[in-house]
Amino acid sequence: MIRPAELIQRKRDGEELSDDELAELILGYARGEVPDYQMAAFCMAVFFRGLSERETYVLTDAMIRSGETIDLGARLGRKVVDKHSTGGVGDKTSLSVAPIVAACGVPLGKMSGRGLGHTGGTLDKLESIPGYRTELTLDEFVAQVRDVGVAIIGQTGDLVPADKRLYALRDVTATVDQPSLIAASIMSKKIAGGAQAIVLDVKVGDGAFMKTLEGARELAETMISLGRQAGREVVCLLTDMDQPLGAAVGNALEVREALDTVRGHGPSDFTEVVLDACGKLLALSDLGIDEEEGRRRAERAVADGSAEFVWRRWIEAQGGTSDESALPVAPVIRAVVAPKAGYVRELGAIRIGNAAVHLGAGRRTKEDAVDHAVGIVCRAKRGTRVDAGDELAVVHARTEAQADEAVRDVLAAYELAPEPPEERPVLLEVVG
Ligand code: URA
Repeated sequence: MIRPAELIQRKRDGEELSDDELAELILGYARGEVPDYQMAAFCMAVFFRGLSERETYVLTDAMIRSGETIDLGARLGRKVVDKHSTGGVGDKTSLSVAPIVAACGVPLGKMSGRGLGHTGGTLDKLESIPGYRTELTLDEFVAQVRDVGVAIIGQTGDLVPADKRLYALRDVTATVDQPSLIAASIMSKKIAGGAQAIVLDVKVGDGAFMKTLEGARELAETMISLGRQAGREVVCLLTDMDQPLGAAVGNALEVREALDTVRGHGPSDFTEVVLDACGKLLALSDLGIDEEEGRRRAERAVADGSAEFVWRRWIEAQGGTSDESALPVAPVIRAVVAPKAGYVRELGAIRIGNAAVHLGAGRRTKEDAVDHAVGIVCRAKRGTRVDAGDELAVVHARTEAQADEAVRDVLAAYELAPEPPEERPVLLEVVG
């Protein structure tokens, strides 16, 4: 029988734990035998001391063993590809990628999460669509992926229950942004969910959990190594999160933008990330094509309307209405205007993310309900030249008072300068 206090102390002092000790701690936590306060202290010790490559693998493996696993590939008779983001502001990539990839003949069944801190969650976005069911049985999920090509649901309770508990605990104990803990959290879910090849969008910058390129590279390499040890192919896109991705931040607003992108009318930075991810996923799939051809096919699916057709079938198959006019709309809509002329030098992602949370688009506590209608549309992105009085952004709020506060928050996120900033591409690096 392990003694958690002793393991916490040894990790605090920088020791490497044995495979059995670490696995037993995690499995004990998943069974409810190790209390939250000890696991919180352990996570903080890991935050400062890190985990070795071996420990990170053992942690991931124990999390997978805490619940059931699905062999989606065997059930579909296809190689299964998946995509996951480490979390950002305005990151609605999965919503656009899934129908485009499916329109190219590659099924994508995804289990997604809710928002964490200032970052949005795919499930919250999808729930802004009236009628959309995020909970399907496993059989319904598999049948929909087979028939329609796309299903996006919440993580079933049986899959990696250790992560479900740990993720919620880390969120409120300042222990999310640790590369081994993020890597184990993401990879355990992807491996348990049956993905054979995975494209990971690792966000870097002010609005991401990894603030620096070095930290993001370390996270990417850790996830690639975990994938390799489990026999899965992993490619990581390191993408910019110093400013929000695309224009829309907030659930229904992001669904609209994702659909616009599927139709070929999305913001350029977001479209770039979507098409990059599609090209990589199609190259990893069983179509036997390279990335360039994958990207060409993705562009064609957008241009010829087949991706939009799949979008409608997917949303309707999951009980939602594909009529955009049914999406909720906020009662107060307010423009944020430039106080002076200049170039947008910075558009702080974390400030915009927090402003959206204050409007109600995210949760401050786990129990909070999300207001799907509210959010911010950032019309001027980094590098845009504006004159005094030009529109920088639009706030969608529930009340006048919340709109006033959000306008102030959004203005504080914009830095205007006489000179244009250095160009920074949205795709920073590819690892793996
Ligand atoms: N996304 C996850 O699934 N887990 C983390 O720890 C962080 C982002």
